[in-house]
Amino acid sequence: MQKIAIIGCGMMGKTHSKAYQNMKDLDICVKYVSDLDHKKAEACAQMLNAEIQTFENILKDPEITIVDLCTQTFTHAELTEKAASMGKNIFCEKPIALSIKDAQRMIDVCKKNNVKLSVGHVVRFFPEYMKAKELLETPEIGSGAVARFYRGGNFPSHGTDNWFDDIKKSGGVFVDLSIHDFDYLRTVFGEPESIIARSVKLSETKECKNNDHGLAVIRFKNGVLAHVEGSWAEPDNMPVGFHTKFEVNTKNGMIHFDATESMTFNLQLKRKQNNYVAARPSEYNPYEQELRVFIDAVQNGSEVKVSGEEALKSLRVALAANISAKEKRPVLIEEVK
Ligand SMILES: NC(=O)c1ccc[n+]([C@@H]2O[C@H](COP(=O)([O-])OP(=O)(O)OC[C@H]3O[C@@H](n4cnc5c(N)ncnc54)[C@H](O)[C@@H]3O)[C@@H](O)[C@H]2O)c1
Repeated sequence: MQKIAIIGCGMMGKTHSKAYQNMKDLDICVKYVSDLDHKKAEACAQMLNAEIQTFENILKDPEITIVDLCTQTFTHAELTEKAASMGKNIFCEKPIALSIKDAQRMIDVCKKNNVKLSVGHVVRFFPEYMKAKELLETPEIGSGAVARFYRGGNFPSHGTDNWFDDIKKSGGVFVDLSIHDFDYLRTVFGEPESIIARSVKLSETKECKNNDHGLAVIRFKNGVLAHVEGSWAEPDNMPVGFHTKFEVNTKNGMIHFDATESMTFNLQLKRKQNNYVAARPSEYNPYEQELRVFIDAVQNGSEVKVSGEEALKSLRVALAANISAKEKRPVLIEEVK
């Protein structure tokens, strides 16, 4: 049996708690939950019938095999280092860290202690994104030529002590938000060569003092161009909440996805009628899937699906976007050390 501890019971700790509630078929138990704020810990403890404990005490319990880190990004490196050195396998929310140095340290400490590290790049588990990747791998559709991706909503003001607004704590809109699309695009088109990006402050929200909207254009080594836009600047009274969309054009057709449309996924082939794929089944939970895949890897000693190395490569793209936006110049991905 895998005994799990969730560290951090904020927004993502709650999301993961809900996911574990659906895993009654697995031989697992969420033994502990932990948060510096007792009320937040209580909410997750009740959901999972788990005990509340401090991070330090949890690490001392030899029964715990998996630590699920749902704390703010600026804590990931330090907590991973501590948990790995106590022999715990780690599932860490994305982004892996805020610098390449920290991400590498996390990878190294997990290797040294022979524990698994996986990072929550959950977009890889969203069915529409999985379907698009599968289609782009078929000769009928062909690989992409140009792509555009969007994800956004209003400012994440739920963050404890408003940490999202501090670029030193969250990395800003590219590192925290657009990294989802950077990571996914790498799985489809391979490694990027260069990026040009800009970021601006658009919203009037009191909690947000820094740039909250970013646009990046990536050139991949295979020639594909992708335009990635991420926003925390949508107004509070938008008729839709947080949402995502993408369009990929290839030699043979176009794939279009928009989470706000009733027919979300649309494949259009040249000289053929439109082909529609129905929306995602409501019971499918991508957060549950990514955790199931990780638990399976721990249980069976197999490779994790999203390794620390993979997450580091996606972080490098996001950091390149930050440099480009700051210095207003194109940046080669390999520049980011
Ligand atoms: N995968 C996704 O779709 C997605 C979405 C949002 C956020 N995230 C990521 O998830 C992580 C958490 O984000 P959030 O929105 O849940 O933040 P949050 O501020 O809502 O919650 C973080 C919680 O961690 C707790 N915490 C911090 N240090 C702790 C410690 N040492 N011991 C116990 N508890 C501790 C804090 O008290 C806080 O309640 C971030 O890395 C963020 O980028 C991922």
